[in-house]
Amino acid sequence: MPVPDGPPPPLDVLAVEGQREGVLGEGLAAAIVRRAAGRAREPVAGHLRAIARDEAEHARFAARVVAWAEGAGGERVRRAVAAVRPPAFAPRPEPAGALAVAWGRAGADVQADARAEVAVRRA
Ligand SMILES: [Fe+2]
Repeated sequence: MPVPDGPPPPLDVLAVEGQREGVLGEGLAAAIVRRAAGRAREPVAGHLRAIARDEAEHARFAARVVAWAEGAGGERVRRAVAAVRPPAFAPRPEPAGALAVAWGRAGADVQADARAEVAVRRA
């Protein structure tokens, strides 16, 4: 992976992006895929469980980065992070059929449940 050119981002930018994309975005991905795995058939379910574990680890890593940036940057950074809202989310309008669910598709109900879980964890 190439190293980006230029100076590192300011701490508030790092923390806000880490919260939005990492803690909330990766956390939402993990919650959706974990739920889809619970409804899918093997071997799809096993692959989805592995993806969910990866996404959850990405979210935990982001949370550590955000916590560090908040500690290093102080109140200004903590306020910026507190203002971050969960990523935009548009559930698929139709429910997933039984065959699609068995093959790992997360329907609107699964996505809505996952979003609620992430919102509660954030509160
Ligand atoms: Fe990820």
